[in-house]
Amino acid sequence: MKRIITYGTFDMLHYGHINLLKRAREMGDYLVVALSTDEFNWNSKQKKTYFSFEKRKQLLEAIRYVDLVIPEESWEQKVTDVALYNVDTLVMGDDWTGKFDFIASQTDTEVVYLKRTPEISTTQIKKDLNKNN
Ligand code: CTP
Repeated sequence: MKRIITYGTFDMLHYGHINLLKRAREMGDYLVVALSTDEFNWNSKQKKTYFSFEKRKQLLEAIRYVDLVIPEESWEQKVTDVALYNVDTLVMGDDWTGKFDFIASQTDTEVVYLKRTPEISTTQIKKDLNKNN
């Protein structure tokens, strides 16, 4: 069984996220999503999410491409996650290109960056809603 992992915040789930999850799942048989906790978002990414961790997790668990959701609590956990979940491939959108190559050199996990879906992001949705109200 080929296992895939991906990381992210997935706030206000949108079709760019779904496209990423679909393509990631199609690369293997089992997809783990490591979902950034509210604390990790705030402390490490200076991001305050609209939906709480529990709500974001509930939404992801309802997606057919997602097999398991685990918390992402630090940048460093990737090396232990890939061992713990027997991960073959770590997948990220190409806004992260190069950032996780160290995983490929430190473990036998392949790292793949997929093209982002154009013109949609959580940040963009928030901006557009602010502009129009
Ligand atoms: N993603 C994507 N295409 C998009 C938006 C996101 O492929 N249009 C991917 C990202 O590259 C990442 C994953 O979805 O691998 C989760 O991204 P996240 O940062 O949570 O979503 P964004 O919409 O980019 O959120 P933000 O604007 O807050 O950065």
